[in-house]
Amino acid sequence: MNIILLGPPGAGKGTQAQRLVDSHGLKQLSTGDMLRAAVLAGTPVGLQAKAVMDAGQLVSDDIVSALIGDELDAMGPGQGAIFDGYPRTAAQAESLDAILAARGRKLDHVIELDVDEDALVERITGRFTCAHCGKGYHDTFERPLVEGTCDKCGGHEFKRRPDDNEQTVRTRMAEYRAKTAPILPIYEAQGIVAHIDGMAPMDTVTAAIEAIIT
Ligand code: AP5
Repeated sequence: MNIILLGPPGAGKGTQAQRLVDSHGLKQLSTGDMLRAAVLAGTPVGLQAKAVMDAGQLVSDDIVSALIGDELDAMGPGQGAIFDGYPRTAAQAESLDAILAARGRKLDHVIELDVDEDALVERITGRFTCAHCGKGYHDTFERPLVEGTCDKCGGHEFKRRPDDNEQTVRTRMAEYRAKTAPILPIYEAQGIVAHIDGMAPMDTVTAAIEAIIT
């Protein structure tokens, strides 16, 4: 099974992708995570991407499509993928078609999380993750059960993304409206798009996704 999760920044793509990894053994392919790892490692891709990401703009299509191809090549043929934050432009959607076809894969579902942009600013500026295992939290909606300790790995260090400030978030949303939302009709023509209310509680969103994919 190969699924695209679509939605503006903060819609809950990463949150739901993590749950699908746990429940279905799918592999989460987040181009945002791959790029942040490259920035941290100081690779040539990371050096090129950092300023673009900090400004909330999109990294070049060629770079992200190459990252996705490499990740798929490292997976077993039977394992399904969740594309989280990719594709984001018409050119990336075209590349993904070719990348999948070359590996004997096809898309089964494109799930768009519909959300209210103003509420997303609060979601994004309040989120943080465990520095050790990457589990996501939120200042208001999902604090660790024991303050200062990760529920999943017991770590005590947490971090926030440099692009999670209001000004950059507004730019990221504008990029989504201008470049990513227009790719939906490509998939609608294939009859594989489902829309879900991304403003519902996390468990309700998960249940709605499960109803689509099972
Ligand atoms: P990326 O890392 O992909 O960021 P994004 O798309 O902006 O998405 P986010 O990770 O911010 O949000 P999300 O939808 O995953 O929400 P989350 O689950 O965390 O991209 C970052 C940058 O990398 C881009 O700006 C660009 O520069 C570059 N890039 C990446 N991919 C690229 C590509 N393909 N092409 C070009 N450039 C690319 O949820 C957010 C918060 O809300 C969390 O705290 C969570 O706990 C909470 N939450 C989630 N769901 C709910 C709910 N239902 N109710 C209440 N709270 C909720």
